[in-house]
Amino acid sequence: MSKKNDTRDDQMTVGVFFKNTGHHIASWLHPKAQPDAGINLQHYIDCAQKCEKAGLDFIFFADSVAVRDTPRELLSQVSQFTAYFEPITLLSALSMATERLGLVCTATTSFSEPYNIARMYASLDHISKGRIGWNVVTSGLGDVEAQNYGLTTHYEHDERYDRAQEFVECVLGLLDSWEDDAFLYDREASRFFDPEKLHELNHDGKFFKSRGPLNVPRSPQGHPVIFQAGSSNAGRESAARFAEGVFTGYLTPESSADHYKDVKSRMKKYGRTPDQMRILPGCTIFCGTTEAEAKEKEEYLASLINPDVGVQYIATMTGIDLEGCSPDDELPDRESVRASEGTRDNIIAQARQEKMTIRQLYMRLAGSHGKMTMRGTPSQIADQMQDWFSNYSCDGFIFQPSYMPGDLDDIVELVVPELQNRGLFAEESNGTTLREHLGLERPANRYAAAT
Ligand SMILES: Cc1cc2nc3c(=O)[nH]c(=O)nc-3n(C[C@H](O)[C@H](O)[C@H](O)COP(=O)(O)O)c2cc1C
Repeated sequence: MSKKNDTRDDQMTVGVFFKNTGHHIASWLHPKAQPDAGINLQHYIDCAQKCEKAGLDFIFFADSVAVRDTPRELLSQVSQFTAYFEPITLLSALSMATERLGLVCTATTSFSEPYNIARMYASLDHISKGRIGWNVVTSGLGDVEAQNYGLTTHYEHDERYDRAQEFVECVLGLLDSWEDDAFLYDREASRFFDPEKLHELNHDGKFFKSRGPLNVPRSPQGHPVIFQAGSSNAGRESAARFAEGVFTGYLTPESSADHYKDVKSRMKKYGRTPDQMRILPGCTIFCGTTEAEAKEKEEYLASLINPDVGVQYIATMTGIDLEGCSPDDELPDRESVRASEGTRDNIIAQARQEKMTIRQLYMRLAGSHGKMTMRGTPSQIADQMQDWFSNYSCDGFIFQPSYMPGDLDDIVELVVPELQNRGLFAEESNGTTLREHLGLERPANRYAAAT
């Protein structure tokens, strides 16, 4: 494959987005899924080790800090939204069961303090020997999350991002409290550390105050790899400023390429270059050794969806009141109560344009939640991924297994080897840290750099 510019390696970054039983709303009903996956450490260890063995760059855990405010009737019939491990705790355990796999998880800037986050991620980066990434989010579930933290309503959209930017700035400052060679452990000279190499941050901003220094030494990667997942204007600006990995949810290579160009071009004003960021769309696959087998897998999972759950799911995804609608009705011409946003708008437009019934809509969406789905044989799926990658629609992908562990097996046994055979994805990374897997440089300590 030709390189169109010299800012990018010609190999993809590939990760897997772990969700307890899988991303599909009927995933836990699949006989090959693990129903109690959310709190089953052995399940996660087995799945993480499969990813490591296949040579994948990292696994990722999303997070919310509330049980969704979704009607209980729907909540009680799906597995993903109610009970699962807090991910930083989980990554600590997984870091002991793996050796080179990158480990990424979400922490919110809306309901945490920078000092707590800096301390936990720095500790994790030490424990894992440099394999940690932090997905910075502002929390997307709405007021239910705020209400677990003494507030009535969530902050306004753009204020969330203003807080997020200051939060990250403060965390990165705290993570630089100690220069890399600050600790001497010199018994003879009675010097545990060099006092010249310890720095107080004294952050005093609009939203946060933190004196520092952090009581954890500088971590193996300098700081954990920073990820981000918002695509609004404010989200893109935050990504350009600090993100080293960006998760997206685009449906077509064209829309993804527009986002890719836009976000990377915004980096310059922050003194950054495009090769300092990997953009990774989420991707659900239905893969079989034949097209018919792939189709059968998708249809089987869809057949497990209880129609009442399917209707409520579409009501939640679109914000349209579907009271009194049957699964065989088209999406009614009613107003959405949800604010306009990329995924919601795409779903409504697609349903109206194709005159889809609610059943057709939930069968199509239930695996990827309105994000991209690739279907077919390993070769057909690799063709599509190659097309996205070579046209600069992305720097790689984050797979979203429809159910775990079964669909994860298809990813690591069918699709990943096909990408490796084509030379699109390395069989083994040269390094051992997440930064090295992603081809990202280790950041210099700001104080050491200044002297
Ligand atoms: C792959 C992916 C993973 C995400 N993970 C989380 C998460 O763990 N927690 C969360 O609150 N939001 C998560 N989000 C949502 C985003 O952080 C963001 O709130 C959403 O995309 C809307 O952002 P925008 O308002 O900038 O468009 C994720 C989004 C994507 C595409």
